[in-house]
Amino acid sequence: MENASDSGKLKIPNHVAIIMDGNGRWAKKRHKPRTFGHAKGAEVLEQTLEDCNDLGIKYLTVYAFSTENWARPLEEVQVIMNLFRKYLEHSVEKCMKNNVRCRVIGDRSRLSPDIRDAIDHLEQMTRNNTGITFIIAINYGGRDELIRGIRKISRDAVQGVLKPEEITEETVGRSLDTSEFPDPDLLIRTSGEQRLSNFLLWQLAYAEFYFTDIPWPDFNKEELIKAIRVYTSRDRRYGGITGQQESK
Ligand code: IPE
Ligand code: IPE
Ligand code: MG
Repeated sequence: MENASDSGKLKIPNHVAIIMDGNGRWAKKRHKPRTFGHAKGAEVLEQTLEDCNDLGIKYLTVYAFSTENWARPLEEVQVIMNLFRKYLEHSVEKCMKNNVRCRVIGDRSRLSPDIRDAIDHLEQMTRNNTGITFIIAINYGGRDELIRGIRKISRDAVQGVLKPEEITEETVGRSLDTSEFPDPDLLIRTSGEQRLSNFLLWQLAYAEFYFTDIPWPDFNKEELIKAIRVYTSRDRRYGGITGQQESK
């Protein structure tokens, strides 16, 4: 049985992915608008990035806005977009100070031009930083990403650059927004829901899943360590039988 024993050394995952869920419910419980939860969630994210960096995690990917989240009331979407604006603005300096390399995944074409420019600027400024790689999924959907990748591969096939029988796992991986990053080792979802909601469908093939009832605005270093402790206790077999195989 899996247990989160206090003893023993932690195995630090190379790449942690987080579905930051529960902002709205957290706010509602406090008789505040859902957007209050998003603002608090953004603060918690900044702290979590620092905590991941301190623990020696090399990649952190967070689900900030899904391709399905446009279905929310316009006002809520606007508040979330303004939080991105605010974050992108002040994060250049912070990322430079903390040696963080920042990247954004998802379809940018639906984002406002000023947000797209701010993303380009942040990625450009931080591209040579050698600390944690912080990947933000904005207007991201796993199916949308796969469709965009399949289109790229199909174009190469039609042009004769690539034969269908030459298409491998690497070809598909390279066609995705995450082409430069290793797959996540640990997926954390907060706030009780146990589903992927269209997050990193290809990349999570062999990730360990950790679900907690804690809503995202209450997430902290202690909860992060709890998740890593459970991860440490898992036996990653990758379809084999011996276990204890290390991830890349
Ligand atoms: C996650 O919190 C943030 C986004 C999806 C942008 P939610 O807004 O989904 O909060 P709940 O799940 O409704 O409580
Ligand atoms: C997933 O949460 C998306 C993000 C955290 C950005 P949702 O709240 O949108 O997922 P569902 O609707 O509960 O599946
Ligand atoms: Mg939710």
